[in-house]
Amino acid sequence: MKHLLTIKELTQSQLLALLDLAKKIKSSPADYRHALAGKSVVMLFEKPSLRTRVSFDIGIHKLGGHCLYLDQQNGALGKRESVADFAGNLSCWADAIVARTFSHKTIEGLAEFGTVPVINALSDLYHPCQALADFLTLSEHLGDLSKVKLAYVGDGNNVTHSLMIGAAILGASMTVICPEGHFPDGLIVNEVQQLAAENGGSLVLTSDIAALEGQDAVYTDTWISMGDQTELYDIEAKFNPYQINQPLMDQYKVKYFMHCLPAHRGVEVTDEVMDGKGSLILQQAENRMHAQNAVLVTLLS
Ligand code: CP
Ligand code: NVA
Repeated sequence: MKHLLTIKELTQSQLLALLDLAKKIKSSPADYRHALAGKSVVMLFEKPSLRTRVSFDIGIHKLGGHCLYLDQQNGALGKRESVADFAGNLSCWADAIVARTFSHKTIEGLAEFGTVPVINALSDLYHPCQALADFLTLSEHLGDLSKVKLAYVGDGNNVTHSLMIGAAILGASMTVICPEGHFPDGLIVNEVQQLAAENGGSLVLTSDIAALEGQDAVYTDTWISMGDQTELYDIEAKFNPYQINQPLMDQYKVKYFMHCLPAHRGVEVTDEVMDGKGSLILQQAENRMHAQNAVLVTLLS
């Protein structure tokens, strides 16, 4: 494993090893206090962040490393100088690059032209760190991930793609329920179908909310992602039947609720579900740090 760009680059055993390591770091943090001693990580963010930025910064500190945050002062990467030059320069000083970019191609460019590991902290296409934390969370509640039935409801994009990929590699069952016109990327769907076939997983895509029946957990995300210029009033009629609310959870007897956050309370999910006893949102947020630390330890030590 040289980079973490999508999760597709991981085999099932590498993915399970990362999740195991995350559990070890979470339960015995003192054993990893010096794992990144002397290492510096640069974090580049073209978009806002709470969880990703803070969990990387504090996580790296807990591993004995140092991190430097570069905000959006220079605008999109590649504007002031090329992505290749940016990556080459950062590789002179940093031991790893964590990047949140609008275009996934920018992250691929950092990996291609830099000489240090690159970790995708969210792009238009993928959010691998989120998916790792989410599967860690699911395994803490449900054990064997190959038996998990996960449903994603809403707009199919970056988070959906990474969950689909992770579920397929783990041999889990994934159902993606989206309004017409908001399904995940077709090329990624094809790749995931292949991965699922190889690993004993399954992927179902539908617009029928009744596919929630029998799922262990339902996951949703914002209906309008960062960088998407869509106005809520243009899509809410189409998305409203896909709001996650308590009557829906009860009707289909779904125990757990998940969201990558930030959430729009009263839009894609109600307060009752966000704050309900089956809500895993804060555990997911906490696990971002442990999962990312497992990635950093794997890539850097
Ligand atoms: N889930 C997530 O990536 O949150 P932030 O955008 O706050 O980093
Ligand atoms: N799909 C969301 C995820 C935020 C963590 C976005 O891209 O804005």
